Order: sequence, then structure tokens, then C-alpha cells
Amino acid sequence: MKAARIALRSAAPLASAGGSPSAGGGRVTREVEHFARYSPSPLSIKQFLDFGSTNACERTSFSFLRHELPVRLANILKEIDLLPSPLLSTPSVQLVKSWYVQSLMELVEFREKKPDDQKVLSEFIDAIVKVRNRHHDVVPTMAQGVLEYRDSSRMDPFINQNIQYFLDRFYMNRISIRMLINQHTLLFDNSDTVGNPQHIGCIDPCCDVVDLVHDAFQSAQMLCDQYYFASPDLKLTQVNGKADGQPIHIVYVPSHLFHMLFELFKNAMRATVEHQENKPSLDPVEVTVVLGKEDLSIKISDRGGGVPVKKTENLFSYTYSTAPKPVMNSKNSTPLAGFGYGLPISRLYAKYFHGDLHLCSISGYGTDAIIYLKALSTESVEKLPVFNKSACKHYQTAIEADDWCAPSKEPKNLSRQSATA
Ligand SMILES: Nc1ncnc2c1ncn2[C@@H]1O[C@H](COP(=O)(O)OP(=O)(O)OP(=O)(O)O)[C@@H](O)[C@H]1O
Ligand SMILES: [Mg+2]
Repeated sequence: MKAARIALRSAAPLASAGGSPSAGGGRVTREVEHFARYSPSPLSIKQFLDFGSTNACERTSFSFLRHELPVRLANILKEIDLLPSPLLSTPSVQLVKSWYVQSLMELVEFREKKPDDQKVLSEFIDAIVKVRNRHHDVVPTMAQGVLEYRDSSRMDPFINQNIQYFLDRFYMNRISIRMLINQHTLLFDNSDTVGNPQHIGCIDPCCDVVDLVHDAFQSAQMLCDQYYFASPDLKLTQVNGKADGQPIHIVYVPSHLFHMLFELFKNAMRATVEHQENKPSLDPVEVTVVLGKEDLSIKISDRGGGVPVKKTENLFSYTYSTAPKPVMNSKNSTPLAGFGYGLPISRLYAKYFHGDLHLCSISGYGTDAIIYLKALSTESVEKLPVFNKSACKHYQTAIEADDWCAPSKEPKNLSRQSATA
């Protein structure tokens, strides 16, 4: 949040560019309208791999991205404009919007440039790296905007539902833009040396799921030990339903899977330690990894006391958290919980390649969190929001009146009623 606040102070004047009557504003509006008319083109993991295979062609990737990135930016810019005006006018949301506008306009500059020119290709890499850096703080800045709005306005259930709908689409759009940029820079930017030589861009064609489970568990355990001076152990079972006894590998983006596992482990550990504080030893967190014909499923089961049914519908709401608000300071840089972003963002990562994340809880006992991923890379296709009439409708349709009776708070005095009947 600190970074967001600093950025806010130096907010670029482009914040007003969205629809200003100035010449620049008119051009921005025209470009946004132009690119928003196109639907984003989802890629499959297999297509991402083809871009990076032996006949990888930087020119093809450039030609695709110089159109596709503005399309994705413009589609979400149109949705930002549908937000309730008190939220849209917060300084944080205006700042985020200005970043999207500025990035779109910088990318549009490449529209007429020749893909055969090496100078153009390297300028394009510089431009998308700049976009990635500019958008670095989008998540905390947008979260800050929602908090500013919550503090200043009354949040009715309709507006809350709209904001949750928007944030899912907005963050999914961001995941997809980062994926496109990372793939291009990892494959074609020679100065980018962080890539793993076994990976194709950020995709691991032979991702060892059990290894990743161990890594994410250890990282969460370190945090948990830091906070509670205790942490549960891991009990792991793996079943390869396709090739009995063989290790489980999939084609996937390891950083995405790590993110989901890490978030779910932090939650499971916090619940276990807090629920079992009076027990002499902690029950382990049990993880079952199963590769089936179609799905790769990872079940994370804890004995952390679970969540009551009436609260389960809140779990995937942004900002819903039962942990105290984390205090950000230099000593404790990573909090174990408290933002209320862990579950909703993890589910987006799972859904991004058409997987899912489910939570099933038994109050008084524990919780099962299950990540489902597509086992086949041909089926792992990007799931992307598109700005169209159905999306618009979501922001306009009010919640209809409940067609089930709401229980009255005070029981009616039935004895008096029957006496007068
Ligand atoms: N395994 C679990 N057992 C019990 N409660 C859980 C479990 N997982 C999540 N919850 C509940 O769901 C809430 C939301 O979880 P989420 O991960 O989204 O946010 P958080 O953990 O509070 O904060 P952060 O964004 O830092 O992860 C938690 O605060 C907790 O109340
Ligand atoms: Mg969490």
C-alpha cells in the first residue's frame, strides 16, 4: 500500500485522459473504442509453447502482441468506466486507469512499425517491460481504491456484488497481460537472464507437482513458525491414475501453481495452529495429489476447525478476512494472513487455464481445499473476460427481491393471533 500511496502523490496528468475533451483525450477515447471492439484471443498452453519452440519467431509474437495487448487493456478500461462513480472517482482508481491508458497509448505507437526491423523489436521489448513495471502495484492500488470507497460510502449488497464481479475480471485480465509480457521477454529479451533453461518462457513442460507442493509447504511453514513458533507437518499421498507409480508431471506455469499452494497452505496452517492451540501436538496438513485422465487434482485437508456454512459464501470475497489487519513494517514484511485476497486470487490463477478451486468445510472439524487443473495442455486455454452486452448487464441489473421468506427477527405472538381468529 505504501508504494501505492507514493505513486498517488506523483500521479501523472494522464489520469484525466480517459474522456477529456482535449485533443489527447479524444485520441485516447478513439483508440480505446477501437480496440475494445475486438474480443481478446485466448491462447492455450500449447500455443504458448509453440511461440517458444525451436521455430520461435519474435516477429510473429510481436505482431500478435502489438494488437492483443491493446485489446486486453481496452476491454478492461471499458469495464473500469462502468464502476459506481464514487469508486471510479477515487484517486487510486483514477491512478490505475491512467496506467492502463498510458500503456495502451504507448503500445499503439507500434501499430505501423515493421516487424522485420530489429530496432523495432528491441524497442517493443523495452516498451512492454515499461508497461510491466508501471503496472507492478495495480493490485494494492485497486485494493486501496475499494477501501477508500468503503470508508466514504454506504456499500449496499448490489454494489458489493458488482465490485466482486469487476475485481475477478480485472485481476484475471491482469494475470493474462502479465503472462503475455513475461512470455515474450523471457523468450526474446537477451538481457533477461532469470529464466530457467528447462522452461519455455515461464511454462515448465515437465512441472513436478509433488516437488512444488514441498517447496510451497516449506515456504508457508517458515512464515507460520515465525508467527506462532509452531507449524503442522505435511503428510503427502500421490496417485498417478494414468501411469501407476510414476511421478506426476504436467505442463504448467510453476509460479501460478506455487502461488495457489502457498496461499492454501498459509490458510490451512493458520487454522490448524489456532484451532489446536491446546493440543500437545498439531495434526498434519494432508495433501493428496492425483493425476487423472482429464484433471490434475490437489486436495489440501486440514483439521483447523472449519468454517460455518453461513460464512462460506464470504470466503472468496475480496477483503474478507478473519485475521487482524496486517501491519506492514520492515521487520515483518510478509504477513501470514489478513488481506482477504489469498483465496479469490488463487481461484483466479486456477481458473485462468480453465481449472478451478473449491473449498469444502466442516464446521468444528476442518477444511478441504481442492485445486483442479487441466491435465492436458491442449485443454489449458486462457479464460479471459470480454467486454460485451452481457458484461454490461451485470453492472446494471439490480439484485432481485428474494423469493424465499426472510425469518422475522421477533417471533410473532401466535397466542394473541389465535385468540382473535
Ligand atoms: N483452511 C481454512 N480453515 C479455516 N478458515 C479458513 C481456511 N481458509 C480460509 N479460511 C477463512 O477464509 C478467510 C479468507 O481467506 P483468504 O486466504 O482469502 O484471506 P486471509 O487468509 O484472511 O488473508 P490473505 O489475503 O493474507 O491470505 C480467512 O481469513 C479465514 O477466515
Ligand atoms: Mg490467506
